[in-house]
Amino acid sequence: MAIREVLRMGHPVLRQVAVPVERFGTPELARLVGDMKDTMAHENGAGLAAPQIGESVRVVIFGVTANPRYPDAEEVPFTVLVNPVITFLGEETEEGWEGCLSVPGLRGVVPRRTRLRYAGHDEEGRPIDRIAEGFHARVVQHECDHLDGILYPMRMPDMSRFGFTDVLFPGIDAGPDD
Ligand code: NI
Repeated sequence: MAIREVLRMGHPVLRQVAVPVERFGTPELARLVGDMKDTMAHENGAGLAAPQIGESVRVVIFGVTANPRYPDAEEVPFTVLVNPVITFLGEETEEGWEGCLSVPGLRGVVPRRTRLRYAGHDEEGRPIDRIAEGFHARVVQHECDHLDGILYPMRMPDMSRFGFTDVLFPGIDAGPDD
């Protein structure tokens, strides 16, 4: 497997609607997921979507290990999610800071739905069906947005809360990017 270049905002692939995966358990899908895992680990990310490494297919990975340095970052189980489908549960939204490996060095406040159900399959075709809320639900929405060509700044209603991480949070490790 390999660490791949993460495309940055402005690259046309990041604006495309990605296509569904049609076959599970293939060497091609295993290689893609392996490259995504290696790249996310190398970048110390909370999640990564296939378009971010130039592959316009509906595959995301995410996961956050509990870390005392990031007390606000709740634990999120490591997940490979192919062809995800999100169903929002309730109308409630909440605001939270987000970063993105494709928008390096910046953070912004994004409103997201608080609770949702997400379903799909892993790379072997095993079904996934979970209910998530809070930070877990935020990460899922951020990653799945990448599959529809949406980057988090496009979700921001208030650009006054958008800035460089080291200026917004001087001296603080602000946590992983998505
Ligand atoms: Ni992102």
